[in-house]
Amino acid sequence: MRLLTGIQPSGDLHIGNYFGSIRQMINAQQDNEIFAFIANYHAMTTVNDGKRLAELTMQAATDFLALGINPEKSTFWVQSDVDEVLELYWMLSSFTPMGLLERAHSFKDKTAKGIAANHSLFSYPVLMAADILLFKPDIVPVGKDQIQHVEIARDIAIKFNNQYGEVFKLPEYRVDDNVATVPGTDGQKMSKSYGNTIRIFEDEKKQLKTIKKIVTEAVAMEEPKEYESCNVYNIAKLFLDESKQLALQERYLKGGEGHGHFKLYLAEVIWEYYRPYREKREYYVTHQDDVRDILKMGADKARSSASEIIDKVRSVTGIAY
Ligand code: ADP
Ligand code: TRP
Repeated sequence: MRLLTGIQPSGDLHIGNYFGSIRQMINAQQDNEIFAFIANYHAMTTVNDGKRLAELTMQAATDFLALGINPEKSTFWVQSDVDEVLELYWMLSSFTPMGLLERAHSFKDKTAKGIAANHSLFSYPVLMAADILLFKPDIVPVGKDQIQHVEIARDIAIKFNNQYGEVFKLPEYRVDDNVATVPGTDGQKMSKSYGNTIRIFEDEKKQLKTIKKIVTEAVAMEEPKEYESCNVYNIAKLFLDESKQLALQERYLKGGEGHGHFKLYLAEVIWEYYRPYREKREYYVTHQDDVRDILKMGADKARSSASEIIDKVRSVTGIAY
């Protein structure tokens, strides 16, 4: 199956991102054809500092390669390197009723908060529709917040097809219900916006400092401790196989150790888990030209794949004359 996903280049990745989406994408590479791109045009709706956007784009590419995107097997590129997407975006605009966009949550939520919307925020779902429709994916894996965008892409595709014939494959979304919400250091959902994240690629001392801040119950050292409700345990279990989870549960139930001990253990577990990824990342950080070559190869692959749809669209619309 062909799966397509867009990655917002939004800075330092945390373990919520990893267990909530990145790992599934990496694992899906085994049996599927993955199309994954860094959505730098989309990021322009929020990042207006040019130097910063360029850095974020390279950072996202570096991090995803380190975490296991396989550029030979998958198609991995930067959105703006396949500029056919902007052409399609315009073509689709004529098949996008204003009402459809006015109902989009991303736009409604911001305007409801009094944030002045610009056109890019308003038309963001049309660009996302172009991202999807250009590559004929079978499935678009998304978080709940993106379902509506895929539905909009579908609506636009239907309208276009009604006019010009079966040009676009109608996209389906998939929400992975098995994905647990990863708690942050304060027990709320881990999120950049809450400042409660544990970053994947962090300096060892800083990571330990962050882990030491995880909120836990005050229980005397010798007392047995609850593990089900413990933030340290709930983060640790993501990294542990069943036997190691059981061993950690026993340590909680036995008493004699404080949460400080469990935190040290968690820090060790996280550090070891990401060791191979960190090493790979260090390579890419010092070989940014390799990253650029990989992205160029990905853009070439993506372009050749997009040519079928864009040629058809130019032809049926009469833009090719
Ligand atoms: P943030 O909330 O830190 O801004 P994003 O919204 O950029 O994170 O999320 C990027 C991806 O990571 C999404 O697919 C989202 O579902 C997933 N994700 C983020 N935080 C978590 C979490 N705490 N638990 C599970 N998945 C998460
Ligand atoms: N809008 C998505 C997000 O904010 C990113 C994205 C852009 C995307 N284009 C896409 C996701 C196409 C899936 C398919 O996370």
